[in-house]
Amino acid sequence: MSTPLWSRPRVVMTTTASVDGRVTLSPAERLLQPDVARRWRDAWPPDVEGLLEQRERWIREHHAPTVVLEGSGTFVGRDAVSRWTGPPAGAERPDHVPRSTPRVFAVVDGRGRVDWTHTGDDETSLVVLACRATPAAYLDDLEERGIGHLVVGDRTVDLALALQRLAATFGATVVVADGGGGINGALLRAGLVDELHVVMFPALVGGLGTPSFLDGDPLGPGGRAVALRPFGLVRGDAGSTWARYEVARAHPDDVGGPGLAP
Ligand SMILES: NC(=O)c1ccc[n+]([C@@H]2O[C@H](COP(=O)([O-])OP(=O)(O)OC[C@H]3O[C@@H](n4cnc5c(N)ncnc54)[C@H](OP(=O)(O)O)[C@@H]3O)[C@@H](O)[C@H]2O)c1
Repeated sequence: MSTPLWSRPRVVMTTTASVDGRVTLSPAERLLQPDVARRWRDAWPPDVEGLLEQRERWIREHHAPTVVLEGSGTFVGRDAVSRWTGPPAGAERPDHVPRSTPRVFAVVDGRGRVDWTHTGDDETSLVVLACRATPAAYLDDLEERGIGHLVVGDRTVDLALALQRLAATFGATVVVADGGGGINGALLRAGLVDELHVVMFPALVGGLGTPSFLDGDPLGPGGRAVALRPFGLVRGDAGSTWARYEVARAHPDDVGGPGLAP
């Protein structure tokens, strides 16, 4: 039986990008690496921090999100492989939710590639989104470390199902998708993006293969762009911008049409 679309949370995508849409400096460099973060921020004019604060406040006041969604690419390189071997989790593996916290940091890691050092705190639980193909030993390890997991999907994480399960398990009504281009592109292609907030700063990174804020599968022949409805633009005093958009297809909860005030 299919679950009704409206049982999923609203997905609010946030990103911080150069003018050419890049979200890091090169394919091999992740912003969690201190040297990369330093060089990334060196390219920011002084207005970026203020725009990021305004964006966070606006989202908090309008959506009060309790769940942030990330992809594994934020934590490991594209060519990283799992250190856990052995059989997959399979169909019978139950979810593991060891504790209840006000916030959830959910990370898609269907291949079991991230060797977690931080496991969350009293305010925020780390919850890994896995699938039946994820190594069972990885899920065992998560459980031993007190990290939660949801098994959602067969060969890869089913993002629509993951959102529904985040709603059912944690009461999430809004999920902030703050990942890189891979997870963002997969959400877009699955029709799971409702709102987009781009803080763009005046710099160019370039380079084929450098992550942009929307990668993933290209459109097929004859495919159409996803139309957006702009609903707010804030200009910083050094040339950066924070642009807000809503995907032109209304979320089923928006009965009577999109109602987001600027
Ligand atoms: N500037 C910013 O705002 C910002 C924000 C976040 C990250 N970043 C940067 O972006 C880079 C990472 O980007 P990335 O594109 O390499 O990694 P990514 O966005 O994390 O994309 C890979 C993730 O997407 C998942 N995925 C891909 N296709 C999928 C599908 N069809 N269904 C379900 N899940 C799917 C993968 O799942 P599996 O793990 O299961 O394979 C993986 O978790 C890093 O350098 C990071 O620092 C920048």
